Amino acid sequence: MPLDIVIGSQWGDEGKGRIIDLLAGDADIVARFNGGDNAGHSVTVADQLFKLHLIPSGIIQPHTICVMGAGMVVNPQILLEEVDHLTKLGIDVSPQRLKLSYAAHLITPAHTALDGAEESEKGQGLLGTTRRGIGPTYADKATRIGLRAEDLLNEDLLHQKLDRILDHANKLLEHVYNRESLDKESIRHAFHTYADRLRPYITNVGALVHDKLNSHGTVLAEGAQGTLLDLDHGTYPFVTSSHPTAPGALLGLGIGPQHIRRIIGITKSFQTRVGEGPFPTEASGDAAARLRGTGEHPWDEFGTTTGRPRRCGWLDAVLLRYTARINGFTEIALTKLDILTNIDPLNICVSYQRGEQQFKDLPQGPADLSPFSPVLEPLPGWENDLTQIRSWNDLPSPARSYIERVETLTGLSVRLISVGPERDQIIDRSLSE
Ligand code: GDP
Ligand code: IMO
Ligand code: MG
Repeated sequence: MPLDIVIGSQWGDEGKGRIIDLLAGDADIVARFNGGDNAGHSVTVADQLFKLHLIPSGIIQPHTICVMGAGMVVNPQILLEEVDHLTKLGIDVSPQRLKLSYAAHLITPAHTALDGAEESEKGQGLLGTTRRGIGPTYADKATRIGLRAEDLLNEDLLHQKLDRILDHANKLLEHVYNRESLDKESIRHAFHTYADRLRPYITNVGALVHDKLNSHGTVLAEGAQGTLLDLDHGTYPFVTSSHPTAPGALLGLGIGPQHIRRIIGITKSFQTRVGEGPFPTEASGDAAARLRGTGEHPWDEFGTTTGRPRRCGWLDAVLLRYTARINGFTEIALTKLDILTNIDPLNICVSYQRGEQQFKDLPQGPADLSPFSPVLEPLPGWENDLTQIRSWNDLPSPARSYIERVETLTGLSVRLISVGPERDQIIDRSLSE
């Protein structure tokens, strides 16, 4: 009855999609539990690259059931576009395989319009959201006026709730933000069409996951974003509006903690961030450009969802220890180790300094990191191409030392090491040592 939870340990884009696709090989259900189409998860299988925003990354493995939990916010238009796209690529995304929780909230054009308007108004205080309507949809959920997937099952209720959301948004758009109002009739019509198509997908996801765990099945919980973007525990206010953490997986699926086996912290070998907010180990100039790449490879550090260049810097073990604590990681999966080839020296942030004082751990949460400067420890690099390596012993010794330093700094084992985007470009230490 194991539940394995996959969590981003940084600011997102750690390579969660790639690791979930791999682990889904042994899972019966892959269950996404938070966020919406602000997420961009890339999965590479042989020469095919799949870019997923809403549908769980486990969908590429042919045998899995993939579910979208109550903790998600779903734009029905984007979901249906993704369904159509994957179907064209030969992936089965029928309602037999893909399930949407009746309690997931729906993103409407009102929410995306308000996200854009609010961001534009913020000027200097801009958060750099993906403008996908995430914040306004979770806000409606919290104020208890949101539209849920189950409302698609009742036409009268759907129109009533939609009207209320659109009327409220139109007042704000016209009178507060000085923008054009939304056309209610065309949105109503679109939601009518979405309802017809999505009805068969709507399920009691919590019960499905629970029954599978109780009948000794394996469930893989898929987090979007990363722990430092958590609404409560991230770099507030530069966060998203959901809980991309291990406790968030339980809330977002509607299950208890008794089934948990592994909590895997997906950690990129360096640090990246899209959008605004603190980033103590951010690099500049050549070092940042080297980590980011030029954009010529699909894995270079440009956003899957928005195309924005990601800010890049050195691995931050202070923040990693913090996110390990928030989640209770049982292990780390380290991704993109191949990208560090030919960077010498490498740096890892081992502590923070404020005046004369050094901190191994954050004295408070990560909201205000401005008083701290990172203490960087240089480590020797390597020149070897890692992309064909499949066993721990074949890694060059400086690469092994880098990983062992991460283990010492976090007290966690690095069990999986990813050396490329493809499914088989992995070193599984439980197999190779
Ligand atoms: P996610 O949001 O955490 O799923 O990560 P993204 O998919 O947004 O970004 C990770 C990018 O790195 C994708 O293009 C992956 O295909 C790619 N990737 C993942 N692991 C590796 C790796 O070990 N090496 C390389 N070169 N690319 C990787
Ligand atoms: P994946 O799942 C990286 C960031 C946005 C912005 C902040 C708030 O691919 O790792 P939002 O639109 O959520 O209100 O924006 O959160 N952000 C992400 N950054 N990866 C993601 O998802 C992200 N999802 C949101 O850039 O700074
Ligand atoms: Mg991503």
